[in-house]
Amino acid sequence: MEWWRVAGVAMMSTMGPGLAQDTATTRLPPPATAGGMPLMQALQARHSTREFSGRPLPQQELSNLLWAASGVNRPHTGQRTAPSAHDWREIDVYVTTADGAYRYDPPSHTLTRVAAGDLRPLAGVQDFVATAPVNLVYVADLDRMSGASAEDKTFYSATDAGFIAQNVYLYCASAGLAAVVRGLIDREALAAALGLGPHQRIILAQSVGYPAGSVQ
Ligand SMILES: Cc1cc2nc3c(=O)[nH]c(=O)nc-3n(C[C@H](O)[C@H](O)[C@H](O)COP(=O)(O)O)c2cc1C
Repeated sequence: MEWWRVAGVAMMSTMGPGLAQDTATTRLPPPATAGGMPLMQALQARHSTREFSGRPLPQQELSNLLWAASGVNRPHTGQRTAPSAHDWREIDVYVTTADGAYRYDPPSHTLTRVAAGDLRPLAGVQDFVATAPVNLVYVADLDRMSGASAEDKTFYSATDAGFIAQNVYLYCASAGLAAVVRGLIDREALAAALGLGPHQRIILAQSVGYPAGSVQ
């Protein structure tokens, strides 16, 4: 599988599903936006799972997952698969894998590495979290919520993260992936590991992977 450095001039090729350690920003393959399970079947299949196979997600699967979560579905406006109050788009999706931690940029459909190493054990307080190949972390940038009161920032950022989490649940149901959204997080420890600033707030996390025992 090939993918390309965005910020620099070097083009690189990487075999295997892992994200490279030595690139700051990497372009994901275009999401596969056609097909999938009919919506009513995905709703029928949606559920939380807390047991994961150790198998990493291929790049294409990660691309599809992130686009479903909060990707741009209307390029002329930059708007997303998930709604956001006032169109603030204040929720950033961070991705922790065995390779490192990354921030997803929807307009460029890229991942920018924010930390090296395996931060998955910090992405939640439950033991299974470290075994999921991907833990998504939904982080609100409160500075983008211009004019909102503190109470409204809390309310709307939680609501907007919930939409993203449901998109992920439905994508996972459609793709045969396991997922569980989580509020039980040591937010202080995870924020420090991700290098978040005081204007950023961790709202929820969501573990994603292949179900335990699956042979996909
Ligand atoms: C806001 C929110 C926070 C949650 N936090 C956790 C959590 O920290 N850990 C966990 O294992 N499940 C968590 N869950 C998952 C719920 O336990 C799960 O959705 C519920 O048991 C219903 O099961 P279902 O999703 O299969 O319908 C959370 C769900 C929501 C909506």
